Amino acid sequence: MTKNDLNSVRNCRVCDAPIEAFMSFGQQPIANGFLTSAQVADEYFYEMKPAFCARCCMFQIMDQPAAERMFHGEYAFFSSTSRYMQAHFAKFAKEAMETVLAGRADPFVVELGSNDGIMLGNFKEKGFRHLGVEPSSNVADVARAKGINSISEFFSPALAERIVAQHGHADFMSAANVMCHIPDINGIAAGVKTLLKPDGVFMFEDPYLGAMVEKTSYDQIYDEHVFIFSALSVQNVFARHGLELVDVAPQITHGGSMRYTISPKGARPVSDCVAKQLAWERGQGLDNPATCDRFRANCEASRDQLLTLLEKLRQEGKRVVGYGATSKSTTVTNYCGIGPQHVEFISDTTPIKQGKLSPGAHIPVKPYAAFADNYPDYALLFAWNHAAEIREKETSFTAAGGKWIVYVPKVGIES
Ligand code: SAH
Ligand code: TMP
Ligand code: ZN
Repeated sequence: MTKNDLNSVRNCRVCDAPIEAFMSFGQQPIANGFLTSAQVADEYFYEMKPAFCARCCMFQIMDQPAAERMFHGEYAFFSSTSRYMQAHFAKFAKEAMETVLAGRADPFVVELGSNDGIMLGNFKEKGFRHLGVEPSSNVADVARAKGINSISEFFSPALAERIVAQHGHADFMSAANVMCHIPDINGIAAGVKTLLKPDGVFMFEDPYLGAMVEKTSYDQIYDEHVFIFSALSVQNVFARHGLELVDVAPQITHGGSMRYTISPKGARPVSDCVAKQLAWERGQGLDNPATCDRFRANCEASRDQLLTLLEKLRQEGKRVVGYGATSKSTTVTNYCGIGPQHVEFISDTTPIKQGKLSPGAHIPVKPYAAFADNYPDYALLFAWNHAAEIREKETSFTAAGGKWIVYVPKVGIES
């Protein structure tokens, strides 16, 4: 791969209107690109600059690294590491079975970005015909080992046609935390239209722009997340392809997400929730570039406060350890200038990340035992989106006097 393999735009990826960056998060590495010290010299960086399209309301980064740099046979994110997410997808699948799929004869279910089978496993168990589209072969292998049908390819209009030829049209399609990854969203929407039955339903969920702006959770923005969606922008994308936004449902997952339900235009009634959400978004200024200027000021204040706090603790000689080597934390460490001088190591339960350095900031990543066997004074909660699960698990850390450093929605210390 060459240095020029960025997916760079000057015009909106959805509607082609000219767009401009409203801020820069500086040079950023691949968010899930955990590396060995031998790989540091060749580490890849790009400038991460978000922009907002005033015409179609799509929030996007101007330059995204090539997909092959992010999704490959050593992809570091395994969905099933979180028990909460397992329960979330079991519930999501059950709802789809009881609503969309009820009464259908031998329905066919397709998931985009099916990873290790966290969602599709629920359909497999109940004997549904299913197919996962998962380009990162290592995570897809985990799904295949569980008997979940998975193909390791990027979803595209051409692949949609091949799937139709081999398996027929889909009754239900889902995608979680992947639609916002794919720069050719028009191609993906066209592929969904091709693959769905005329009365088929596509449900997808991703981090929500409304939540990100409200909480200043700028760490939702990283290389994989080329888009941060709102109901306004999602409606605009799918309307271009004969598809309609028929329902929305907020989710607490990943720090505030939205589930969007899409159907061929006119095939299903549109829920009142759609109009309500669109009105709420307009009220919040999610159709207005001025909102991004406020967001930028909030990001800068958050960065300055977090770095000041970590500098103070360093001067006081306190031990600070990161909790969860999340992809989001790559944006935080690199934007704020946080390094091993502030954070001794990051504790993470994912074996592929352990023994490596965090992207860009080069903070060592260690197994959970390194944290649990020798509690630090402070744990910097990088996995803040899993706070409920973690706080429940770590009562002995706080009982021993340990404190949490948080930065969403505000920088602070919690015991
Ligand atoms: N759905 C899972 C995984 C999200 S991570 C969950 O919510 O936990 C995003 C996944 O999408 C990765 O496994 C990645 O390999 C996959 N992916 C990236 N681009 C894709 C594309 N164009 N088509 C299908 N899957 C894609
Ligand atoms: P995510 O925010 O992208 O879901 O990634 C969460 C990361 O945090 C993942 O690498 C696993 C790690 N993690 C822990 O180390 N301990 C935990 O208790 C949880 C919930 C996650
Ligand atoms: Zn646009």
